[in-house]
Order: sequence, then structure tokens, then C-alpha cells
Amino acid sequence: MTVPHNVAVRVRALREQIERHNYNYYVLDRPAISDAEYDRLFRELEQLEARHPELVTPDSPTQRVGAAPVSEFEEVVHRTPMLSLNNAFDDDEVAAFDRRVGEALKAGDIEYAAEPKFDGLAVSLTYEDGVLGKGATRGDGYTGEEVTANLRTIRAIPLRLDRHPALLEVRGEVLMLKHEFEELNRQQRTRGEKEFANPRNAAAGSLRQLDPRITASRRLTFFAYGLGAAEGRLPAFKKHSEVLDYLEANRFPVARERRVVKGVDGMLAYYRSVGEKRERLPYDIDGVVYKVNELAGQEKLGFVARAPRFAIAHKFPAEEAASEVLAIDVQVGRTGALTPVARLRPVFVGGVTVTNATLHNEDEVHRKDIRVGDTVMVRRAGDVIPEVVRVVNENRPPHARRFVIPAKCPVCGSAVRRLEHEAVARCTAGLYCPAQRKQAVLHFASRRAMDIEGLGEKLVDQLVDHGMIETPADLYRLDPDALADLERMGDKSAANLLAAIGASKRPTLARLIYALGIRNVGESTARDLAEHFRGLERLMEADEKALVQVPDVGPVVAQSIAQFFGEPHNRRVVRELLQAGVRTAPMLSRAAAAAAVAEKTFVLTGTLPHMTRDEAKARIEARGGRVAGSISKKTDYLVAGTDPGAKYDKARALGVKTLDEAGLLKLLEQ
Ligand code: IVH
Repeated sequence: MTVPHNVAVRVRALREQIERHNYNYYVLDRPAISDAEYDRLFRELEQLEARHPELVTPDSPTQRVGAAPVSEFEEVVHRTPMLSLNNAFDDDEVAAFDRRVGEALKAGDIEYAAEPKFDGLAVSLTYEDGVLGKGATRGDGYTGEEVTANLRTIRAIPLRLDRHPALLEVRGEVLMLKHEFEELNRQQRTRGEKEFANPRNAAAGSLRQLDPRITASRRLTFFAYGLGAAEGRLPAFKKHSEVLDYLEANRFPVARERRVVKGVDGMLAYYRSVGEKRERLPYDIDGVVYKVNELAGQEKLGFVARAPRFAIAHKFPAEEAASEVLAIDVQVGRTGALTPVARLRPVFVGGVTVTNATLHNEDEVHRKDIRVGDTVMVRRAGDVIPEVVRVVNENRPPHARRFVIPAKCPVCGSAVRRLEHEAVARCTAGLYCPAQRKQAVLHFASRRAMDIEGLGEKLVDQLVDHGMIETPADLYRLDPDALADLERMGDKSAANLLAAIGASKRPTLARLIYALGIRNVGESTARDLAEHFRGLERLMEADEKALVQVPDVGPVVAQSIAQFFGEPHNRRVVRELLQAGVRTAPMLSRAAAAAAVAEKTFVLTGTLPHMTRDEAKARIEARGGRVAGSISKKTDYLVAGTDPGAKYDKARALGVKTLDEAGLLKLLEQ
């Protein structure tokens, strides 16, 4: 059936009107029509679409809600990583930041774009040909979860852009407004359901719903604060403030409180003025963010590790509240470390109810002289673990009890030892201690190690307590029936878990090394070790002298590694893992890795997100590659950043392979 022309025209007009009213209502907070009128438009559109289903497009406002539930979220690899920000906690740290920026840019009176630091969840929205195609959470910064259907339910997020490049990634924060949060909790209360601790948790819980209809029922909003990847034509931005103006012109909500300020004085004045307004803002913030405004300056400053050098978050002071120490318990960690934990009278601080606070170690307890029965000040900032700041001495009851670290492990009863140069006391039983066993298995299965989905704390507790596993290798020999009999399991969950365990059998060497949980060997050391030894056997045989040859491995780390593999028990675990079929994925030979770059010709264009062009050039050349100025048939790769220009079109025409920064890094890291 062909759609009559007038119907198609009407449908288009309705969509435009509805989205305009969405914008007025959800972004500008200035509704132009009554709810009843809005509903009438919406229903008319629904009816026309029901009569002419061929007219339904993904960017129709009717398509914001009602998508079917999913059983899990897909993973999304971010085109450019979503990084974090370094923090400044006082004026001096802000001044130091400004000094570093000034020195690097050889300039004074630097201009900064200042914005509120939204206390929500970072997301990335990808528009393909102007239509919202994919939305993802930040995840670990490199891969996130695809939550497109949920993000579409947020009325403040445009489904379609008017003027747009071929691809545009918009980054920002999903939030729940304070009054919506209050309303949601009121509803939860009347329904007898659990209330949310704060708007951030409510937003996170709502966005990560497998059923988008639930997300749709929770009023979330969004604020944009920057761009990620882009392809095709964009205005030639010179400043971050222009990027924000562009986003605003494209109907994205952008913080009204944003300003351009100059130098430390400007930054601190901004911080104070936002601090004063904080309570009155409709959303939660936990500080402000300063970004070098000139994009050329940003590019020059670049990034260190996982945060930009051109930006900093100036945090508001952490909240403190008084509570009482009811008991001091001792927890046993993965390496046997005994950590005293204060059990507190529940207290609401920094947006959550706190009942426990780590006391770090024995010395710390004595330094702060924390006793059971004391009144203490508890501090919590953002996601940080709650801390006991100090004891309120005037309130100490006469019977307050001092803390002594136990001589025997509270879990397995083995001897506790504290080495002279160490601050922590440890249970000496190693993996014979159930607490250590549990932690070792949890670490082994964790996302950045073997990444076994569904193997959480509760389950590991049961597996260890029932004697079903002693070491991580036992995971690969679990009996499906015994597994299905565990609490909250059943055949289906057991089968899923076994599938996840099976899928973990091909880790990279670096992940496997990290997963073993060798003391002092974090992810990056594990990567260095993998790169150096290129095989588990060679690593296991290395003595301390061979180990210190690895870049960044010092005597302490070398000793931990040698000790770990000197332990027959640990060697047995490795042997059993191999017997169970765990095999590391093959690594390219050094020659093959070098050949991916060596002798190849690269051309660079556009702005790369995390490297200056000079840096990229140096890294390519260090691997034996060449960097040319223009595209020809001899070019092997075009590395394209944002705003790539004519070289990109030419490369396409000549069929030259294009890479983004992530692709280049992959090639360089092979
Ligand atoms: S810019 C490379 N601006 O803070 C810099 N981030 O610690 C990217 N955040 O996960 C971030 N408000 O979600 C930026 N105005 C703002 C922000 C902001 C909140 C969050 C962001 C990120 C975290 C970084």
C-alpha cells in the first residue's frame, strides 16, 4: 500500500512538533503547550504509524519507548577511550595545575572552559548520518555496555540531528534530577520496594535495566560535555567552548552554568560561585571541571595514562558525619592481609548509608587511636570507600576497648605474621585459608583477569564452603549437577556458568599472569612480563636476576614472582590449568609485529584524541615506519582523527586503508 502524500507530510510535521516540544520541556524547561495538547499530537502520530507501519522510522518519537527487553547487554568498544579526570582537592592543587599548563604552553593567563562536574553516569551517543545509532556506558573506559534502547527513552537526548557530519559521538552524563529522585523514592516506598541511596545510584540502576520500559518509567536526563570520534565535516572548532555551543545549537542539553574563565583567580571564583549555587541546582554535582579552552593547547598537552593533562576536576570537600564504632572486625584479603574494619552505627554521609569503614591496618588504628565504643567522624566522597577521619575524644566512654590484631587468622585459625618492614599482618596459610582461597578465585575470574561472567562473591562462597573448589584450576572441573544443586542456581544458571568458564580458556598471556594473583603484579606488570617472556614456562623458570631485566620490574616485584613460582603448590595450580585446557592466545613474533609497521608508509590527518601528531609520528618511526605528508597510491595507512579533511576523501578514493587512533595503537602494540 502506498502512503498518501498528505499522510507522509503530516507524519513528518508531527514528529518535528513533538520533538520540538520535548526540547522545550526537557531541555529548555519551558513547555510551550499543555500536556493534553502534547498527548493529542502524540496519539495522532501513533495512530498514523499504526495505519502505515512502513512510515515508522527509528528516529520517530514513538520509538523512544516500548523496545523489547534483552537478556544481556552487548559490549561496545569505544572508538576513542572514555577517560577519567585527575582531581584537585584544594586551591593549591588548582594553582599547581595552572602552573603546569602555563609551562607546557609557554603562556600566562590561560583561558579555561569551566563546567559543573555532573554526578551521574558517563555515556557515549553515536550518531550515524545524524541518527542516534548507538549509545553506550563508559564501562572501564575502553569497553562499555550497549544501552541504546534505554538511552532512547531519555527525552532530552535528540534522536536525530539537523546538521551533522557522517559520524558523531557525543559524550556526556546521564542524571536523575533531584526532584525526580525524590518522586521515584516516594513511589518505591508506597510499593514497598527498596529506595535508592542517591540520584546517581537511581540513574545507574535505571539505565542498566534489561527492560527499556522500566528505564522509560524513570525520568532520566542528559547533559553533554564533549565530543568523541567524528567523521566527515564538522565546523573548524578552535575552542572547547565552541564545541559546547555547537552541541547546544544541535539541541543537546549543555550546563547553563558553564563559563569561560581566566587563570587561577578565574577558576577559583568560578568554583566558589558554583559551590554557592550547588544546593539550588536541580541535579547533583560533586565539583567543577576546568578544561584548557584552546583545542590546540589541549592537543599539545595530551594525556598521561588514563587522564588528560589539559583538564582537572576540582572536587567539593567530602562530606563528614558522626557515628559510633560498634565493633572492629578483621577481614582477610587475597594475599592474607588482615584488614581491620570498623562496624558503624548506620549513618547517612556523602549520599549513602555507611555501616562499615576500612581502618587500613593495625598501625592506622593506633595512630588514630580508634576504640570500640568511640564516636568517630566518618567521611565519604563520591565512589571512595568510607573512612574514619578521627575520634571525637570528648565522647569516649570509660569502657572503650582498644584494638589488637589477632594472633590467629579469624577465618582459618593459622598463625598471623607481620614482617618487620611491612604495615600489614598476614595469615600465613596461603590458599589453605578459605578466605584467601575465595579472594584468589574471585580475582582469577574478575573482569580484567579471566573475565568469567556470573562468578560472583555469593557463588564463590558456596563453592569454597562446599569444598567444590580449592584453587582456580578446580573451576574447570566443576560437576554440572553439583553446581545446579547450589542455592539460587538450577540447571540453566549452572549451564551458563560452565559456558562462561569454558569461554575463558583462551586468555592472553598477560591476563593469565595477572589472574594468578601474584603479589605486586598488577595488570601493567603482567603485560610487561608477557611481552618479555612470551610464554608462561619461561616466566616460571626465570630467577630474580632474569626478572629484573624486565622494564619496570624491580627487586621487590622480582622477589614476589620468584617466590610465587618457587611454591610447589602454585606450580601445581598452573599445571592443572594447562591440563584443563587453558591455553594462552598466540602472540605475534617480534619480527611479525615489527613488520606490521616497519617499512610501511603512514599519513596522518585530523586531530587525534590522545596524541599529538608529533607523538604519533615518533611512535610510528620508532617501529620503523615512515610518515608522509600526502596520500598517494604508495600510502599503506591513513590515520584519521577528528575533522580529517580532504586527505580522508582521497584515501577513500584510492582505497587506502584508514585507521583511527585506536587502530594505530593496536598496530603499534602488536
Ligand atoms: S570531561 C577526558 N566534563 O567525570 C575528559 N567529565 O572523572 C573527559 N564528568 O567519567 C571528561 N562532569 O563522566 C567531563 N563537565 C564534565 C563532567 C565530566 C562529569 C565525569 C565523566 C567522567 C568523569 C571523569
